[in-house]
Amino acid sequence: MNGREIIRRCGLLAQQTEEPGHITRTYLSPPMHEVHRLVRSWMEDAGLITHVDAVGNLRGVYGDGPRLMIASHLDTVPQAGAFDGILGVMIAIALAEQRPPCALEVAAFADEEGVRFGVPFIGSRALVGDPVMDECVLAAISHFGLDPARIPEAILDPEVKGYLEFHIEQGPVLEALGAPLGVVEAIAGISRWELRFEGKANHAGTTPMSMRRDALACAAEWIGLVEHVAQTTEGLVSTVGKIEAWPGAGNVIPGLAIASLDVRHALDEVRERALNVLLDGAEHIARRREVKLSGESRLEQPAVALDFEMVEEAVQAAGFPVHRMVSGAGHDAMILARKVPAAMLFVRSPGGISHHPDESVLAEDVDAALAVGAQVLREWRPE
Ligand code: GLV
Ligand code: MN
Ligand code: MN
Repeated sequence: MNGREIIRRCGLLAQQTEEPGHITRTYLSPPMHEVHRLVRSWMEDAGLITHVDAVGNLRGVYGDGPRLMIASHLDTVPQAGAFDGILGVMIAIALAEQRPPCALEVAAFADEEGVRFGVPFIGSRALVGDPVMDECVLAAISHFGLDPARIPEAILDPEVKGYLEFHIEQGPVLEALGAPLGVVEAIAGISRWELRFEGKANHAGTTPMSMRRDALACAAEWIGLVEHVAQTTEGLVSTVGKIEAWPGAGNVIPGLAIASLDVRHALDEVRERALNVLLDGAEHIARRREVKLSGESRLEQPAVALDFEMVEEAVQAAGFPVHRMVSGAGHDAMILARKVPAAMLFVRSPGGISHHPDESVLAEDVDAALAVGAQVLREWRPE
């Protein structure tokens, strides 16, 4: 399989969607059945012995003894592109097909984005003995036809001695440098929260402005703070990517608003300090507006250093320039790094576009990633 065929397969999987006309495929949603069927057949054609574990990850093993796991994810954000996660799984299968000199496990994780339940990494967390056991997740597992009682069996096999992930860069840096590939040295830490603003719904025409407890206006004032704190803190990004208001009519003052919060920085202490400022700020604004505030943490993931040497030497040996970089996006590698040395290789993202239908990748860059992957497998020795 070359870069062109890998891109073609990503396009085929993009047709499996919850939302006609868009690529939307959340954790264990109905189209994941057909995705499993297709990817499983490609894995088996490549010589992998496959199974689906109890959280819905598709796994395939090649060879015996100490092995390297090569993985990424099959779920998407709403109205996604075709390559985030999927490209990494297709590259892993292409490398297995080459019958490498070491044993391999290919994993196609069922959830990395955390869209369906607001909790990311449901797939990879099961491998490191930290499964997400929320009732709603367990119900989704049963509904998909899997057995939640078997989640402990999804644990990483002790023979897995290292982890490698290929992923589109999802940003503009490599394109600006004119480089096809990037070596990831670290992944920024992530805090995700859900905040609930409870005011009082009332008639939009009759309630004087001074007598309102508007939950959405309260959340909106806080969102201004979320943007301001990130704009004034070097390297910090913070986002409210989702907000819902109830009861949801143009002539009713919103009585309830629920908002997401996503805060990231390469330094954990900067992220933690900013998070506290944002949570204190929400409390302050809510108190002034007589709105009741509650909040729940969905993810506290520290920044992670990766084993860049595993890929850096291979990038050089394959004849490509080496560019080390920090990933602002979260990846399954940050979960697997809890247990084994983990490395990542980025593939240039044309236009720096991701989490968008315009996401793309160049066939020659995928060929470059394949060449580096083959080189890693030639040299890889379990520690
Ligand atoms: C995954 O794409 C993330 O960084 O949230
Ligand atoms: Mn993503
Ligand atoms: Mn991804």
